[in-house]
Amino acid sequence: MSDLDLAIRGGTVITASDTIRCDVGIRNGRVALLAEAITDAKKTIDASGLYVMPGGIDSHVHLDQDSGPDITMADGFETGSRSAAAGGNTTIIPFALQVKGSSLRGCVSDYHAKAEGKSLIDYGFHLIVSDPTPTVLNQELPALFADGCTSFKVFMTYDDLVLNDRQLLEVFSVARREQALVMVHAEGYDTIKFMTETLEAAGKTAPYYHGVSRPEVIEREASHRAISHAELIDVPIMIVHVSGREAMEQIRWAKQRGLKVYAETCPQYITLTADDMKGANMDMSGAKYVCSPPPRDTDSQKAIWEGLSQGVFHTFSSDHCPFFYDSPRGKLSPKGQTSFKYVPNGIPGVETRMPILWSEGVAKGRISANEFVALTSTNHAKIYGLYPKKGTIAVGSDADIVLWDPNRKEVLRQEILHHGSDYTPWEGFAVTGYPVMTIARGRVIVEDGKVLGKPGDGQFLKRDKSPYAVPAGA
Ligand code: URP
Ligand code: ZN
Ligand code: ZN
Ligand code: ZN
Repeated sequence: MSDLDLAIRGGTVITASDTIRCDVGIRNGRVALLAEAITDAKKTIDASGLYVMPGGIDSHVHLDQDSGPDITMADGFETGSRSAAAGGNTTIIPFALQVKGSSLRGCVSDYHAKAEGKSLIDYGFHLIVSDPTPTVLNQELPALFADGCTSFKVFMTYDDLVLNDRQLLEVFSVARREQALVMVHAEGYDTIKFMTETLEAAGKTAPYYHGVSRPEVIEREASHRAISHAELIDVPIMIVHVSGREAMEQIRWAKQRGLKVYAETCPQYITLTADDMKGANMDMSGAKYVCSPPPRDTDSQKAIWEGLSQGVFHTFSSDHCPFFYDSPRGKLSPKGQTSFKYVPNGIPGVETRMPILWSEGVAKGRISANEFVALTSTNHAKIYGLYPKKGTIAVGSDADIVLWDPNRKEVLRQEILHHGSDYTPWEGFAVTGYPVMTIARGRVIVEDGKVLGKPGDGQFLKRDKSPYAVPAGA
């Protein structure tokens, strides 16, 4: 009798680098054997006609995040991780947000409590630094990095989160010293405020004007400023949720200068446009698409595809930031109905990320299946200190695997999804290619849309320092 717990037989294994016809043997939750034919295991899964890929890692997810007194997020760790698993993911990295005036450590403890016993899949935390006091910079951040939260996000906009240039330079310096990876939300605070007030004064308050209030030039300026600050401090940065050509060209320019500037993009920027925020006749239904940066235009989508196929973008994440639509604590809050500026920013997408990229990217011949794996899993693991435990199928790696049917056609719609939101921005969007089984540390947690995993199965991941956070001049 074999000592393998499970064999995945007859499939084609796809990693970021290779496509190989082989079987996968799993023991104690890890990949133990890759071989032409494994005939002896306690349990066998037939993967004939399927692709066997590393489970998705979504490194940009917001769950149970403090969203102010009037708004409630639609997913906590249980529904959010269930939705992620159903979409072929085996790891998520949500954010632990520092509320201004609070201790960052205290906030991280709160998020541990929110996640404990809830997540169906493994998870880590990025930090969000909103109040970089000397205690945060010199004591809390180093301690939290040592605890395995080795990346953090800073915001150049939003009243409750924005850091000024001086503060950005201070946190960049800490990141350089500690080899932590900084993620930057690059949109300009003052420029957005000016645009918002100008639009409101003209009575332009519908959700559509959210996009008008933060055009590409504002994202471009902030991206350039973040890159310049990073050059000054000599620290690598990751610019998240890049929406179009303008910001992308800044990133290209930085790379050409030899700077370590990495970038992420998301499904909304290859599938949605500003017109979606018009809703029906500029009504509130446009609020379903309000996120930041906002979806742009078809030229921007083309630019994002250039960036995806030319390696400008390292990661393709969902930026899952789920709110209810039809709720006074969601997109249709009483204040949200008075102005776009009160509509909570963010859309649900953790479950639809991989099908959208496969369908629009691989099925349409824009990227290879190996590039798909790199963009949805491997690069996330490498950049955020999880590789090679996560992000690949190799002997010794966690058996985090998605079985993918490249021919399966599905129409994305609310009724087939598992998230907490009451809508999906992709209602009616047809895809080719869908996950048919998700295996996390060797256990089948989703089979044909049926979730078998249990809350608490997922473990907190203490992440290594990012190899991508080593300064160029180090
Ligand atoms: O609109 C968005 N993306 N909200 C989520 C918060 C963020 O900036 O990532
Ligand atoms: Zn952001
Ligand atoms: Zn454009
Ligand atoms: Zn986000």
